Amino acid sequence: MDLTVATDRAALVKARDALGPGRIALVPTMGALHEGHRSLMRLAREHADHVVVSVFVNPLQFGPDEDFGRYPRTFDADLRVCEEEGVRVVFAPSAEDMYLPDRQVAVSAGAMGGVVEGAFRPGHFDGVLTVVLKLFNLVQPHVAVFGQKDAQQLALIRRMVADLDVPVSIVGAPTVREPDGLALSSRNRYLSEADRRTALALSRALRAGAARAGMTGTAGTAGARPAEILDAARAVLEEAARFDPPLLLDYLILADPATFAPVGDGHRGEAILAVAAKVGATRLIDNMVLTL
Ligand code: PAF
Repeated sequence: MDLTVATDRAALVKARDALGPGRIALVPTMGALHEGHRSLMRLAREHADHVVVSVFVNPLQFGPDEDFGRYPRTFDADLRVCEEEGVRVVFAPSAEDMYLPDRQVAVSAGAMGGVVEGAFRPGHFDGVLTVVLKLFNLVQPHVAVFGQKDAQQLALIRRMVADLDVPVSIVGAPTVREPDGLALSSRNRYLSEADRRTALALSRALRAGAARAGMTGTAGTAGARPAEILDAARAVLEEAARFDPPLLLDYLILADPATFAPVGDGHRGEAILAVAAKVGATRLIDNMVLTL
């Protein structure tokens, strides 16, 4: 089936209407598509008859000192990926088409949007939720797929859908990793070879934490306390702080997956071990879901 590219809202409405009957899955992206995005599209196809992908580098979710200007834009290659994955519509609007010049109203991510990742990126999650809600309203999907790699984003989108009665089912997709453990990210293409060696400490730290939690069946102790899990992960990150280039840690947290509040000793069930760090000029995040 052919792929339709809609570059403004009117074209999107036409393309969506032309899809005919059946369930629609939306995969929101900022382009620079990689294997991780392909896995989102494949999962979307399992949940719906038609897949719509949005490609939009959303200015609202970048801070003034962040990488909006240099964020990778690879539209032709992105279209080829979407074609290969059987996507029916790509929605790639301009910022001018997405946002009215006199816009006033936005979504607030609330207190949960100001902790962990949100504490380092003020306003980021308001920008994410605002564009995601707009995309939901424009595409009107039955289901939308987001990566677990952005765990706090996924939790906040689930929160928005629950709090605002948005009629879209949210599906989370597992993080895709390179064979050496590095989580796939559009920002990985910024990494030099030396940066990349340092960056591997993120996934190594998460694995060390998971092992301490007894999740690998080798080194850990089932029932390990959150502080012990964090210590195991932190030891790896501290070693990488002495690499060249050094790993500069923003945060390491063991958090409740629904609220992103730090978990205490009494916590049982799932917890997210999440990390963010700068390597050279690149800021990376990663996480792993543990069962305590
Ligand atoms: O995860 C992303 O790529 C973005 O935050 C999203 C969900 C497409 C919103 O711009």
